[in-house]
Amino acid sequence: MDIDLAALLQHRFGDAPAVAPDTPGREALTRLAGHRSHRAYAERPVDPALVRLLAAVALSAPAKSDLQQRDIVIIEDPALRKRVTGLVTGENPWLEKAPAFLVFCGNNRRQRQLHEWRGRTFANDHLDAFFNAAVDAAIVLQAFITAAAASGLGSCPVSAIRNHAQTVSDLLKLPDHVFPVAGLGLGWPAAEGYVTARLPLAATLHVDRFDDSRMRQLVEGYDRRRNAIYPYARQRFVEKYGTQAEYGWSEDKARQYSKPERADFGAFVRRKGFKLD
Ligand SMILES: Cc1cc2nc3c(=O)[nH]c(=O)nc-3n(C[C@H](O)[C@H](O)[C@H](O)COP(=O)(O)O)c2cc1C
Repeated sequence: MDIDLAALLQHRFGDAPAVAPDTPGREALTRLAGHRSHRAYAERPVDPALVRLLAAVALSAPAKSDLQQRDIVIIEDPALRKRVTGLVTGENPWLEKAPAFLVFCGNNRRQRQLHEWRGRTFANDHLDAFFNAAVDAAIVLQAFITAAAASGLGSCPVSAIRNHAQTVSDLLKLPDHVFPVAGLGLGWPAAEGYVTARLPLAATLHVDRFDDSRMRQLVEGYDRRRNAIYPYARQRFVEKYGTQAEYGWSEDKARQYSKPERADFGAFVRRKGFKLD
């Protein structure tokens, strides 16, 4: 592999750790560290058999207490696909051309069925029931992304489908205690894509004790470093906040969450039968 892991991590974080020449698994680590989301795909179909294979690999991921509270819905029916992805192609126009699309779901229904079938009380009807299923689904989502990349496929998660959680749930016939976590667009990459810069490790990697005493300074440094690599092409909500010369990640994220997003998701989850306390 000709890409240098140390250089890749330096580009990613700005404060990468040293990489010893004898680090085991360097090639695999370099591939993982080079992760990028792909939103542009070649006009080449993805064999449905390969999608099933990748799903099996992804579902091999660990699950909390072996409860296996996650499922994948592969959307193959073109009419259904159009209805589901059509909900979000306004903000995600790239998704229209993704050759394949899947939805990763948390599933706490099966566990409750076990209690019914075995005549045992389900004594964990609280927030953790929802949370565990969401975490299991997220782990499988990432495992699928990694598996797809190993086969040369590119992908991009789509949590925007949760803006329409009830409609997605109705279209996919998700029963009570089963909920969408994210969709995933999948295809053969049309371009190499690019490695996005992350917050420095000094901001997100802690040893022994959590410490964010330098966070503001680190975030401001990240804004500058990121802007030097790829400044934002468009500023968010200019009609409300105007245009800023020094527009960086922190301003973009603060603007993004200055407007309510999915404020009805809790109500949806409660309608699905979860108690969130
Ligand atoms: C749970 C989750 C949901 C996401 N939802 C969307 C989405 O709705 N639309 C989109 O274009 N990208 C989405 N993304 C992709 C992120 O924007 C992307 O991971 C981030 O910008 C970092 O870029 P990278 O993955 O290329 O490193 C999502 C990623 C995750 C993990």
